[in-house]
Amino acid sequence: MEKRQELYAGKAKSVFTTDDPDRVILQFRDDTSAFDGERMESLDRKGMVNNRFNAFIMETLSAAGVPTHFEKRLSDTESLVKTLEMIPVECVVRNIAAGSLVKRLGVTEGEALSPPTFELFLKNDALHDPMINESLAETFGWATADQLAEMKALTFKVNAVLKQLFADGGLLLVDYKLEFGLFKGQLVLGDEFSPDGCRLWDAETREKLDKDRFRQGLGGVIEAYEEVGRRIGVSFD
Ligand code: TMP
Ligand code: ASP
Repeated sequence: MEKRQELYAGKAKSVFTTDDPDRVILQFRDDTSAFDGERMESLDRKGMVNNRFNAFIMETLSAAGVPTHFEKRLSDTESLVKTLEMIPVECVVRNIAAGSLVKRLGVTEGEALSPPTFELFLKNDALHDPMINESLAETFGWATADQLAEMKALTFKVNAVLKQLFADGGLLLVDYKLEFGLFKGQLVLGDEFSPDGCRLWDAETREKLDKDRFRQGLGGVIEAYEEVGRRIGVSFD
């Protein structure tokens, strides 16, 4: 697999073309952003940690029957994935109230959500990822009704698999964001799953072990990512 030119640089990852038009390489950088790119910092080892974390989660999800773009990890910071046509809609499931839900609805952080909630956001930093719904996504052509139904079903399937995986490591999966895309017409999970795009709390102490440590200036960001990785069986050696 030959790495060719940079196709796109996001806030934390870059995408490179390869000699195969159906495959691209994701490069996980150390860059860390919050508040839609307003705050950026480079955190040592983050690219390596997130690349290995993501590979482990994608393989777990794939084994559980969730179709993903993930092919294989190529190096410490690179993974080979299928070339997707991305759907610009972010799917968020919440098991426990935190983050924007608390701000928006005035509910108490830490409140258990039963049943878990499902929300859609438009992927658009300039507009600060506004909340949308199925009707808006269909009308503006961001996703079809069928795609939205499948995205919702897959996002909840991911919840069943990962809630248990993290629970076995003494962790609460508070919430997470998924992005999907199309590969030759088939809807598959894209982007990444790492502590950058989810909330994970220690089940006993409720200590935050995810990107909220960066957003809230709590320090020990990468140490926390490695701790949750180790607890679920990710190897960082
Ligand atoms: P929120 O509380 O800010 O709405 O975020 C919910 C979860 O989704 C949280 O784990 C962070 C993740 N998320 C992202 O990683 N990127 C995004 O653009 C959005 C909207 C959410
Ligand atoms: N959307 C991600 C976050 O919530 C990244 C960013 O905002 O820059 O932190």
